Amino acid sequence: MSNHEELARILNDEINAAADEAALEAVRVSALGKKGRISQLMKSLGSMDPEERKVMGPALNGLKNEVQQAIAQRQQVLYSQALDARLETEKLDVTLPLQASALTSGRIHPVSQVMDEIAAIFGDMGFAIAEGPDIEDDFHNFTALNIPPEHPARQMHDTFYFGEQEDGSRLVLRTHTSPVQIRTMTAGPPPHRIVAPGRTYRCDSDQTHTPMFHQIEGLVIDKETHLGHLKWVLEEFCKAFFEVDTIKMRFRPSHFPFTEPSLEVDIGCARLGNEIRVGEGDDWLEILGCGMVHPQVLRNVDIDPEVYQGFAFGMGIDRLAMLKYGIPDLRAFFEADLRWLRHYGFTSLDIPSLHGGLSR
Ligand code: DAH
Repeated sequence: MSNHEELARILNDEINAAADEAALEAVRVSALGKKGRISQLMKSLGSMDPEERKVMGPALNGLKNEVQQAIAQRQQVLYSQALDARLETEKLDVTLPLQASALTSGRIHPVSQVMDEIAAIFGDMGFAIAEGPDIEDDFHNFTALNIPPEHPARQMHDTFYFGEQEDGSRLVLRTHTSPVQIRTMTAGPPPHRIVAPGRTYRCDSDQTHTPMFHQIEGLVIDKETHLGHLKWVLEEFCKAFFEVDTIKMRFRPSHFPFTEPSLEVDIGCARLGNEIRVGEGDDWLEILGCGMVHPQVLRNVDIDPEVYQGFAFGMGIDRLAMLKYGIPDLRAFFEADLRWLRHYGFTSLDIPSLHGGLSR
């Protein structure tokens, strides 16, 4: 067998034995590289006599082409083998149930759940979400809301005060979410349509009160907003939130310094021992305060009450959560007891939405 036929056989074996692309590359270099075996043979052509060269020239070129082709073919095979192996190991059966993980065992607190539910409902009605700081100044928490110093409403709020500042004023932990109304109206021109959920604080603690609790505030300011809009928004909200088709509601006259007229809203319910059922029965349960924004509040934020008017409402989120999910004791909300959270919490993948269901 001639030299180059022998080499062709050897190279063929080496190429087929190459187990991956790196091994194949090594074979290629050892054959076709500068000092490769075929290249060396090519160089020897120069020292051959013309007759011999006539035969060997084409033969060596043929060998070179053959080897190049064999390498290219082997490359294809190795590539698709590697791809198959990867597809095999990265196989994902999307129909399998979720594996236990932090995502499936963690629980969403009922307060967060209810906040998300409320945000989904008002979001659907075209309200934006607004936020304000937990630490407020006197102007936003009281004065701008038509609660001047010495106003009796200040005593009712059991306010947590910070120490005196240089100018003698004292910051407070906000006693309600109503200051976000003021921040919204001073941040830009009307119309406004916002809800503002968040933490609120009062120096009060018993079975139904905790020093920190949650409220959500609503505010709509426009040129033709009236009490009928307020009633409709609240009725639609209550039906969506309690996931019932009809709900009995009662609007009672009340007093808040920042609204005129002011109303308190009760929903119809049935009390069965410790249980309260919304949407049936002849009892009433107060769930929120509301009213038309007081003209003085509008003036305080440079809005002309002759042109603009609107309504506001505020409700306690913790109470709504207790009601909807039958949770008896408010204090347990803030005790961080994992057993309680596992029982009353929600899975993190059930994101409340009106089309997908609020609480499922
Ligand atoms: N800020 C009131 C409170 O904490 C709740 C409230 C009542 C808010 C009437 C309002 C409203 O916006 O119009 O008791």
